[in-house]
Amino acid sequence: MNAKILIVDDDADIVMMLEDRLQAAGYQTIVATEGQQALEHIVHESPHLVLLDLTLPKLSGLDVLKRLAQLKPSESPPVIVMTAHASIEAAVEAMKEGAYDFLTKPLDKDHLLIVIRKALERDTLRRQVAYLRSEVDGRYANIVGNSPSVRSVVEAAQRAAKSDAGVLLLGESGTGKELFARSIHQWSPRCAMPLVVINCVALTETLLENELFGHERGAFTGADRQQKGKLEMADGGTVFLDEIGDMSLTLQAKLLRVLQDREFQRVGGTKTVSVNIRIIAATNKDLRQAVKAGQFREDLYFRLNVVTLTLPPLRERREDIAALAQFFLDRHTRDAKRPGMMLSQAALDALTRYPWPGNIRELDNVLARAVVLSPKDTIEPDMLALLADDASLRLKDDSGLPYLDLPYHESMEQHSRYIIERAMERADGNQTKAADSLKLQRTYLARLLKHQKV
Ligand SMILES: Nc1ncnc2c1ncn2[C@@H]1O[C@H](COP(=O)(O)OP(=O)(O)OP(=O)(O)O)[C@@H](O)[C@H]1O
Ligand SMILES: [Mg+2]
Repeated sequence: MNAKILIVDDDADIVMMLEDRLQAAGYQTIVATEGQQALEHIVHESPHLVLLDLTLPKLSGLDVLKRLAQLKPSESPPVIVMTAHASIEAAVEAMKEGAYDFLTKPLDKDHLLIVIRKALERDTLRRQVAYLRSEVDGRYANIVGNSPSVRSVVEAAQRAAKSDAGVLLLGESGTGKELFARSIHQWSPRCAMPLVVINCVALTETLLENELFGHERGAFTGADRQQKGKLEMADGGTVFLDEIGDMSLTLQAKLLRVLQDREFQRVGGTKTVSVNIRIIAATNKDLRQAVKAGQFREDLYFRLNVVTLTLPPLRERREDIAALAQFFLDRHTRDAKRPGMMLSQAALDALTRYPWPGNIRELDNVLARAVVLSPKDTIEPDMLALLADDASLRLKDDSGLPYLDLPYHESMEQHSRYIIERAMERADGNQTKAADSLKLQRTYLARLLKHQKV
């Protein structure tokens, strides 16, 4: 199909000359003799390009450009303005308003055709890029992996994204729960509004309450002015409650009320604040188990998990390892400015065999380290420092760990208890020291100690 060009000029001689030249060059032409008519043609005839005279009766060329700026980029064609030699200032003004280029009268035939061809080419590219970008953003976000298990979670997440339903993301540490929470927000009608992340484990109960609900002036010593909480900041958007399994029962009750009524009071206040939010929650805990054990409210559990998405551990989708490794390798070589690095076949085999207890996050870290440390451009297995290959961590041979044959969650819990006990012993019972050695926040360690009755 030949490109359609709209000629806008009130001078009949110029219009005729342009029609002749453009048609001879194979373009279709339509004509408008004043601004309003030009705008109507642009909306109804969708020309690929507009040749616009700046000195028009009634609505000026500049006014036409201003109106066009209000259209969506996909609906407004590139505009080349035509101006008399003497009024270069007007041409500059037109460029500021979004014109693609300008031509001075009298028009030079060859120059005219070159400028038109370039503008059309650039506009085609612009449209292609916009289209591809929307495809990539929309369909894949940054989620790498093509295994059937990941594909089915992505599809379910995209379906859930369209609604306001609560989503509960389950999966071991490092499997991509936060990445999926962000993607769901991106795919949802709320994507232009904020996504607010709240980590329920990093804070003490009072701090978390303050973070969620905000406070009124004078609510506590030091509260010298009103402060909005994160739920309020997320109004119109999405709230991501990370590590929800670690929220205290008191806060669970308050959160439940927000989910039921979409309203709450700030700490120390009586005024009711209404919010329009969508909740996505994540945990690596077995919430059903926690409900049975009385640590998690059943009613809150049902509210949160209208849609449950379970992210598979990496060892159960080994076919994704190569693509993920390449993805992280590209990212880290770019960051470290070491282009051209690659994995040897032996290294790739080692990555594919490894059990990945820390899942995708661990794979990311392993490659980050290898890119920095590898002396050669080809990364060999010895640069991967895979933890489970480390004799000190080979639990299989350790007869001192009798819980290894228990079901997964019990075994993990016992192991966590074992690690904490050892750290506390080494630190002579000093929580701060033990927390330091485990690289945990002291408050978190305290909570683990209480929770697990170590
Ligand atoms: N499919 C994927 N493609 C690319 N990167 C991924 C994918 N899944 C996870 N990642 C990356 O792996 C890292 C860990 O993911 P994320 O933080 O989402 O995991 P998580 O399940 O929230 O972990 P945790 O329970 O430890 O908080 C992040 O850097 C994330 O971007
Ligand atoms: Mg996370």
